[in-house]
Amino acid sequence: MTTADDRLAHVRACVFDAYGTLFDVHSAVGAYKDEVGERHAELSAVWRIKQLEYTWLRSLMRSHTDFWQVTEQALDYALQAVSIDNGDLKQQLMQAYLHLSAFPEVADTLAKLKKAGYKTGILTNGSPKMIESAVSSAGLDEYIDYQLSVESVGIFKPDAKVYQLAVDTLDVPADQICFQSSNAWDAAGAAHFGMKVVWVNRYAQPAENLPGTPIAELNDLSGLPALLGLR
Ligand code: LAC
Repeated sequence: MTTADDRLAHVRACVFDAYGTLFDVHSAVGAYKDEVGERHAELSAVWRIKQLEYTWLRSLMRSHTDFWQVTEQALDYALQAVSIDNGDLKQQLMQAYLHLSAFPEVADTLAKLKKAGYKTGILTNGSPKMIESAVSSAGLDEYIDYQLSVESVGIFKPDAKVYQLAVDTLDVPADQICFQSSNAWDAAGAAHFGMKVVWVNRYAQPAENLPGTPIAELNDLSGLPALLGLR
């Protein structure tokens, strides 16, 4: 059982990464498993890692484009990698990305945080259109006060400008924001920036060797209210 962490006592806001943390990115390919065939898991894994690589590389190259386009370019790569040439399937997978499944404990966790008076937000690489669609199709609108997209600052995570966007918009200092991400590199980025970070290690991965250390690690978000001292 998770118990309260004193280092989170002054937290006023809970901010969440979107993809992989609230929403299951593998649910897009999961919805088209039969159409994709036996290499579905490989397709989904390559799609995700290429999508992330392209964000990091574009930020270093100072050549930003929005996450929708990055996601499509990564899918083009991934489909080629598994030798699938099917334009209709590609369009279906892109549309599925607008309606990803939320992980099962997400709504209940967010409801508890809202009830306890925390400001809540999403801080994501996703474009405004992508994130609005994912939130409303998962029925999470009522639990999220702020939907923040990197499109407001024109560079991807883990640039400090992205984490600063949450500080400025919520008007809460970094060390009073508890940031949750399942992406260990994003957790490191937010911790290095100065937020209190909970790493949601959904897939039991080893810790990253990067600057910035999370305060706590959970398997999923259900332990977060207890970590914050809520009943
Ligand atoms: C996001 C990516 C990192 O939602 O998953 O920002």
